[in-house]
Amino acid sequence: MVPTRRALLATGLLLVAETSAQLDNSEQAFDTLQEWYDTGTGLWDTAGWWNGANSFTVVAELAQAAQSQNDSSVLQSATEIFTNTWTVAPSANPNTDDSVKTNYDSSDPAVWGGGSYDDNGWWALAWIAAYDVTNNNTYLELAQGIFDGLTTDAWGTSCGNAGVYWNSDHQYVNAITNELFLSIAAHLANRVPSNSSYYVDWAQKEWNWFATSGMINSNNTINDGLTDSCTNNGQTTWSYNQGVVLGGLVELNKASPNQSYIDSANTIAQAAISALTDSNNVIHDSCEPDCAPDATQFKGIFIRNLLMLQQASPNDQYTTVIQSCADSIWANDRDDSTNQLSVNWAGPFVSPANSSTHSSAMDALVAAISL
Ligand SMILES: *[C@@H]1O[C@H](CO)[C@@H](O)[C@H](O)[C@H]1NC(C)=O
Ligand SMILES: *[C@@H]1O[C@H](CO)[C@@H](O)[C@H](O)[C@H]1NC(C)=O
Ligand SMILES: *[C@@H]1O[C@H](CO)[C@@H](O)[C@H](O)[C@H]1NC(C)=O
Ligand SMILES: *[C@@H]1O[C@H](CO)[C@@H](O)[C@H](O)[C@H]1NC(C)=O
Ligand SMILES: *[C@@H]1O[C@H](CO)[C@@H](O)[C@H](O)[C@H]1NC(C)=O
Ligand SMILES: *[C@@H]1O[C@H](CO)[C@@H](O)[C@H](O)[C@H]1NC(C)=O
Repeated sequence: MVPTRRALLATGLLLVAETSAQLDNSEQAFDTLQEWYDTGTGLWDTAGWWNGANSFTVVAELAQAAQSQNDSSVLQSATEIFTNTWTVAPSANPNTDDSVKTNYDSSDPAVWGGGSYDDNGWWALAWIAAYDVTNNNTYLELAQGIFDGLTTDAWGTSCGNAGVYWNSDHQYVNAITNELFLSIAAHLANRVPSNSSYYVDWAQKEWNWFATSGMINSNNTINDGLTDSCTNNGQTTWSYNQGVVLGGLVELNKASPNQSYIDSANTIAQAAISALTDSNNVIHDSCEPDCAPDATQFKGIFIRNLLMLQQASPNDQYTTVIQSCADSIWANDRDDSTNQLSVNWAGPFVSPANSSTHSSAMDALVAAISL
């Protein structure tokens, strides 16, 4: 009789075998991801500027996870990617004008700017992830600069004179930009000891406002944003909006411990799992399979942040969801001949995949390494 998964887990055998399989799958997915990497732009073809920040982040997460398994093979390629993207990506930023593209300083936060403030936020988190792997302060300083820009340009909405606007029109107040602001501040609080209280203060101001802003609905899931009159706008509860806040609260709790941060994160994570998983514990966004290019990125962001919560506040339900997503992606959502990963993690594979669907799915493979 074939022993059950549970029996093998109890002996520790399956866990060991599965951990290395997850690392192996992730490294294969990394090779495939790099087929889209354009060394001339420092970005991943077939997807946009902010998606690039997320492909970059999953590479950093893989380098970190592989290191923790005593495998340094990813670190060297990751470091080369960071250096190259640092050097050339501003020349390919679609949001800056030609004079900036041809003559820039990569340490200037303005050259990483996006069409909206959330784009800046993704790059801040990406460079923090690169800092975590390399310890290169240049990257951390850029993230600090990007954050400073958000405090001066985006903070102080008409909804209570707090929170950040989505873009420079200063009209829409949405969840993702505020969750990113929380997460960047909290990450920096743990990484810039000389100025920790400054970042804790910002993270707490953001969270205190966010928690009562109306973004979180009565089911404890988070809608896209607020109406002009500062009430929940009822728009889609995208998976990433249930995710970035989790990592933000985990980091804030690390910098300034308060059980209420972890309690809130658990409430949101469990509400999200009940709203977004299918009967096999696989996460979905409502747009599948015909998602707009932005939405194909979201699920991986959720899983990346759910892992952070799992590590701070372990829960079998989180392990099950992360593992089920990773297993389903590899078994059902992969093109066998190319190893490309697509948009619906339950499958079937939707052709063509692109660097957004692939890097998002790769987030789940990488998260499963660390379970
Ligand atoms: C990695 O190497 C260290 C030091 O040799 C060892 O203690 C640890 O158990 C290893 N970890 C794994 C996952 O093999
Ligand atoms: C830090 O990163 C920058 C930009 O990629 C690079 O020029 C510099 O050599 C790196 N520093 C170290 C110590 O590796
Ligand atoms: C903390 O950072 C802010 C924003 O960059 C800066 O204005 C302030 O001087 C810093 N404080 C310390 C103690 O470094
Ligand atoms: C809460 O979830 C229920 C069941 O899915 C749904 O019918 C209801 O519209 C949700 N309420 C909100 C405020 O999203
Ligand atoms: C913990 O955080 C909650 C929510 O922000 C706050 O009401 C409470 O005062 C905090 N507790 C302490 C001891 O700071
Ligand atoms: C990537 O592929 C997915 C799934 O086919 C699709 O929904 C998305 O719009 C594509 N993105 C781009 C930039 O073409």
